[in-house]
Amino acid sequence: MIKAITGTKDILPPEIPKWKLLESIVNNVFKNFNYKEIRTPIFEETSLFARGIGEETDIVGKEMYTFLDRSQTSVTLKPEMTASVVRAFNEHSLGKLQSLNKFFYISPMFRQERPQAGRQRQFHQFGSEAIGGSSPLLDAELIIIAYNILKLLGLKDLTVKINSLGVPQSREKYKNLLREFLSGSKNYLSEDSRKRFDQNILRIFDSKVESDQEILKNAPLMIDYIDEESKNDFEVVKNLLAESKVPFEIDPKLVRGLDYYTKTTFEIVSGKVGSQSALCGGGRYDLLVEQLGGAPTPGVGFAAGMERILLACENENSLNIPKEEIDLYIIKIDKDLSSKVFELSLNFRNDNLVVEFDYLDRSVKAQMREANKLNAKFVLFLGGDEYKSGKLNLKNMSTGEQQLVDVNNYHQLSEFIKK
Ligand code: HAM
Repeated sequence: MIKAITGTKDILPPEIPKWKLLESIVNNVFKNFNYKEIRTPIFEETSLFARGIGEETDIVGKEMYTFLDRSQTSVTLKPEMTASVVRAFNEHSLGKLQSLNKFFYISPMFRQERPQAGRQRQFHQFGSEAIGGSSPLLDAELIIIAYNILKLLGLKDLTVKINSLGVPQSREKYKNLLREFLSGSKNYLSEDSRKRFDQNILRIFDSKVESDQEILKNAPLMIDYIDEESKNDFEVVKNLLAESKVPFEIDPKLVRGLDYYTKTTFEIVSGKVGSQSALCGGGRYDLLVEQLGGAPTPGVGFAAGMERILLACENENSLNIPKEEIDLYIIKIDKDLSSKVFELSLNFRNDNLVVEFDYLDRSVKAQMREANKLNAKFVLFLGGDEYKSGKLNLKNMSTGEQQLVDVNNYHQLSEFIKK
């Protein structure tokens, strides 16, 4: 038997209602904040992500699904949306039509990571990119959007972490300071951190190795070295969050795993999903649009892992999904009424009722069992003596009440069932 590829998961029908609920909350919240949906292709030219996310990052270095297509072009299944959205923004000159573009998306993403709870190789993100504004109002707005969505899902064990990475000039100065601080203890760092020391020194802060964290304990913190403008913007973000009653922590070690960030970064973590605790992450990327060939344009965004969020909801038992039900089950008493049941169900379905009947010529008892299993609100019995006189027996499944109804007057019946 052929099975699904490691790290991918089927979302089977019983799980769909919670996905729909999450998607409807996402759609609603973004609508209220006037963000417009954008959809980009599943795959892009590899160079887009290499340039956008950064050659030295884990995503580009180790995790991308990259292959040569039949015309020998290197393509990559998208590991994230920001680079794709910026590519579309540049390609269609969207900045010329509108000075600020606020986008949102829901899409599958692909990263070849080691699968574990909350980490898959095909996963889904919702997220947003606000391109064209440098105001920290946007940074705060996006954090609030992400937080609101998680709260609307009933999640409680949440921590909002924020930091500022400053502009590249101040960051370079800081990196030199950090290099100096760590140079004496480089040999005591883990192998991964030694590599990061040479390639991407800020990511050392992401190390989970205890001895690395011990060495980093007294390291200088970037937040103390950022430029004035970043510092002021960060103050504005903090004040707006406080005024909006979004609890947050400043995490000076929050460096994020993608290279495009400038100024504000943030993550919202859950205490209920184990080691893969980041439900969402994002930040400002004021240089990316230009780096990908567009006019200098600031941007800010975030993305959230939907599997991880649903796992948190499950672990907090926070979702109240109503049980699925149907409006009507038509039971066929006489076997030769197949075409009549087909016609009748079509009429009701066209009247916008959720209707089911038996396609398998099962016994009346088995049909009744099926109607119960499907939580039918009403059952209509087709056949028998009543039918011969133009009437059908309709049973209300919650009260047990039965009544004879006119078989030809199905619009009236539809209205009755809808009530
Ligand atoms: P990211 O931190 O790489 O950022 O991913 C965002 C979220 O996607 C994570 O917090 C996590 O919930 C989820 N996620 C990432 N990898 C996996 C995985 N393998 N399995 C399940 N969930 C995963 C970005 O992707 C940036 N594009 C965010 C952004 C938008 N920054 C600015 N704009």
